[in-house]
Amino acid sequence: MGEARELFARRLGLFIHWGIYAIPGWQEQHQLRLRVPRVEYARLAEQFSPSAFDPDAWIDVAEAAGMSYLVFTTKHLDGFCLWDTQTTDFRVTRTPCARDVLAQLATACHRRHMPLGLYFSAIDLHCPFYPNRGQGHELAGPEPGDTPDWERFVGYMEQQVRELCTGYGKLAMFWWDSGPEIALPAPHLNPLIRELQPGILINNRGFSDDGDFSTPERDFDPDLGAQTRFTGAVEACQSVGVESWGWREDEDYFSDRYLLGEIDRVLARGGNYLLNVGPRPDGAIDAQAARILSVVGKWYDTIREAFTEVEAADDITTEPAVPVTRRGDTVYLHLHRPLNARRLLLTNVRCLPKRAVLLNDGRQIRCSTDLLPWRHRTGQRPVRLCDLPVDEYAGSVMVVRVDLATTPDGN
Ligand code: GLC
Repeated sequence: MGEARELFARRLGLFIHWGIYAIPGWQEQHQLRLRVPRVEYARLAEQFSPSAFDPDAWIDVAEAAGMSYLVFTTKHLDGFCLWDTQTTDFRVTRTPCARDVLAQLATACHRRHMPLGLYFSAIDLHCPFYPNRGQGHELAGPEPGDTPDWERFVGYMEQQVRELCTGYGKLAMFWWDSGPEIALPAPHLNPLIRELQPGILINNRGFSDDGDFSTPERDFDPDLGAQTRFTGAVEACQSVGVESWGWREDEDYFSDRYLLGEIDRVLARGGNYLLNVGPRPDGAIDAQAARILSVVGKWYDTIREAFTEVEAADDITTEPAVPVTRRGDTVYLHLHRPLNARRLLLTNVRCLPKRAVLLNDGRQIRCSTDLLPWRHRTGQRPVRLCDLPVDEYAGSVMVVRVDLATTPDGN
């Protein structure tokens, strides 16, 4: 897991959902959720002509957002392949685009030392021998002329996996989708990926094993909120908008504060965060999404040290639950939830810190151990961080660096 740790030390990644579903600009599961007949949906490929596709521009956006790896949808549920596969005509090189966009992206990533991961859906709504049974994200049943055959479909996936793992240089991740919900066997695929790409990380949405890391999605997973420190490798994923992972013309974008809070919470607990954007049909990243990513990047740049070579530490404050990261006697308080007042009590710190600094803008934060009226009976004098600019930062997430004079429990 040496290389795995190295990738996980990279923390923030850019997820890219791109395919012919970007053309109608509704949602990446356009075919399934609008119940569009397969043949009609597949005609979108005739319009796929991404005149603004420039992988370097995507990498620029990722870098400016503080991201240090990228995961790209090679094949989503619709079965459309964004590489020059020999397994089907339903592929990017048979559209007006006529280029192997994965090859171009991989070349740019390798040139710029940007680790590349590949998303690959195990459900395939286009392939006539995929056995649709109406489970999860499958079609309700076979379409006229289909010949469902799981064994044959596994062979088809295997060929595609071989192409992806041999034709595009070193891969950092194989990011399966939908495997667990299919619940059919294909136990040799993960070992094959590992054989073809030694050192690769595989997520937990494939077949037959839990992979190297878990993938809590959006904020659906209550465990994610409850844990104060992750025990295993976690990569949370979220899109910039509420409704879609692919480009959505009328998207309801998340607030900056919400996204920064989620990123901070997950990173502070030792996880990675994969934030998704869906490029427009022409390949350009939407201006609203680009703005969000640049906000993430500017914020991350100022507080990055709170995630560098740190450990997720036990809370040194209980009011409210604030995740803490720690490097030696330096602790970082992650105020990912809005505070109700301009102060924070470090209930487990007994002597005045050497200093406290708001990383977001470098200002010093006053510390006090004066007796507080509410504590007159106990006489406890917890360290108090005073005058925190809670209203000024209402739209962002503050991270406070505290240089302790001694260890948190005062020993
Ligand atoms: C959900 C969506 C799917 C998307 C995936 C990314 O499973 O249904 O469309 O690709 O999230 O994690």
